[in-house]
Amino acid sequence: MLGKFTYCNPTKLYFGQGAVEGLNDELPKYGRNVVLIYGGGSIKKNGIYDEVVKILKKHGKSVAEIAGVMPNPTTDKLYEGMEIARAHKADLLLAVGGGSVCDYAKALAVSVNCDDDPWEKYYLRFEEPTCEILPVGCVLTMVGTGSEMNAGAVITNPHTKLKIGHVFADERVMPKFSVLDPTYTLTLPHYQMAAGIYDIFNHICEQYFSGEDDCTSDYISEGLMRSLLHSSRIANADMNSYEARSNIMWTATWALNTLVSRGKSTDWMVHMLGQAVGAHTDATHGMTLAAVSLPYYRHIMPYGLAKFVRFAVNVWGIDPAGKTDEETAEEGLAAMENWMRELGLAMNISELGATKDMINGIADSTLVMTGGYKVLTRDEIVKVLEESL
Ligand code: NZQ
Ligand code: ZN
Repeated sequence: MLGKFTYCNPTKLYFGQGAVEGLNDELPKYGRNVVLIYGGGSIKKNGIYDEVVKILKKHGKSVAEIAGVMPNPTTDKLYEGMEIARAHKADLLLAVGGGSVCDYAKALAVSVNCDDDPWEKYYLRFEEPTCEILPVGCVLTMVGTGSEMNAGAVITNPHTKLKIGHVFADERVMPKFSVLDPTYTLTLPHYQMAAGIYDIFNHICEQYFSGEDDCTSDYISEGLMRSLLHSSRIANADMNSYEARSNIMWTATWALNTLVSRGKSTDWMVHMLGQAVGAHTDATHGMTLAAVSLPYYRHIMPYGLAKFVRFAVNVWGIDPAGKTDEETAEEGLAAMENWMRELGLAMNISELGATKDMINGIADSTLVMTGGYKVLTRDEIVKVLEESL
C-alpha cells in the first residue's frame, strides 16, 4: 500500500426494498426546514415523490422544493437553488434522484453559506469550504455515480463549456445518509441503466489502471468488476431481476466511495475526456465515458502493460498460455469491447453529437491528470478524441 492515508466514510446507508423507512430514523435528527431536491419529474411518475413527501409530513417538516435539476447540473441552477435554500433557512437538503441531483445537493450544501462565488471557489480554484456546510441526505433512484457515498459534486458551466468535478477532501460534504432501494431503479430506461453500469465499471478502471506495487485495493477492484460483469449481463437480459439490480446498486456504491483508491495513485483520465465531451454535447455521463474508453486504453496499454495483462486474466478470464503480453492484454480489451456492445453503449462520440470541428474545443476543456500510466500531451488528447469519433 502506497503512502500514508486516512479512511473515514461517515455516510449511513439504508439498503433494500422498503429502505425509505430509514427516513423515519434520520429526519428527527435535523431541524424543521427541509429543502427537497429532485430532477425532471421521474419521481412523480413512479410514486417515489409521494412516498417521501408522506414521511416528511409525518415528521412535521416544512418543505421547500428545488425541482428540475437537470442531468449535468449547471451553475445557473446552483445559483437559483442557493436563493431557495437561503430563503427557507434550510436545515437539511434532501436529494431524491440520480447522481445529478445528489451532486447538486452537495454543491448547494457548500454554497448556501458561502460568501464567495461557488463556481470560482470550488471549481476553478478547487478550494475547500470555509463556511458552515448544510447536511445532505439522498434517496437514490439511478445507479452509477457513487454520489450517494462520496464527496464528489460535478457541476457544468455551460457559458464557459467546462464540466468540472470537485471531490471535496472535507468528509462533512458526504451525505449524512443515503437510502438505496433497488426497486426504485426498476423504472429506469435501458439507456440510463446501461450508462450507469458503464459508469460503475469505469470508476473501478480509473482507480485500477495505475501503480505497479501489490495493493489490496486492486484485488477488491477485480472482485467488484467480476460481480458487475456477471450482474450486468443478467440485468441486460431481464431488467426486472431484483438480484442483479441490487448487486449492481451495491457495487456502484463501493466502486466510488473512496475504498478502492486507498493506498495507490489513480488515473481519472477517461473521466476528464468524457466530461469535456459532456461539456460540449450535454450527453449522458456514462455514455461519454464509454465512447472514449477503448481508444484511450489502447493508447496507454504499452505504458501499463503488466496491469492490462492482469486485467485480461483476472477480470475477463483470458488464458495467457502461449501468448505475448501484448496479445493477452489486447484480448482483454477485445472482451471488454464485446461486453460494451452487448450492453448497447455508445461506442463513439459522434453518436453523442460530437463532430470533427469540435475536437479542438473538447481538447481545450480536457483537464490533464497525472496519476495514470501516461500523462497525455495535448497532441495525444487530440489523437484519442479523433479516434473516438
Ligand atoms: O430528472 P429525472 O426526471 O429524475 O430523470 C432522470 C434523468 O433524466 C432519470 N432517472 C433517474 N432516476 C430514474 C430516472 N428515470 C426513471 N426512473 C428512475 N428511477 O435518469 C436521467 C439521468 O439522471 P442523472 O442523475 O443525470 O444520472 P447519473 O446518476 O448518471 O448522474 C450523472 C451526473 O453525476 C456526475 C456526472 O458527471 C453527471 O453530472 N458524476 C458524479 C460523480 C460523483 N459524485 O462522484 C462521479 C461520476 O463520475 C459523475 O461524474
Ligand atoms: Zn463517472
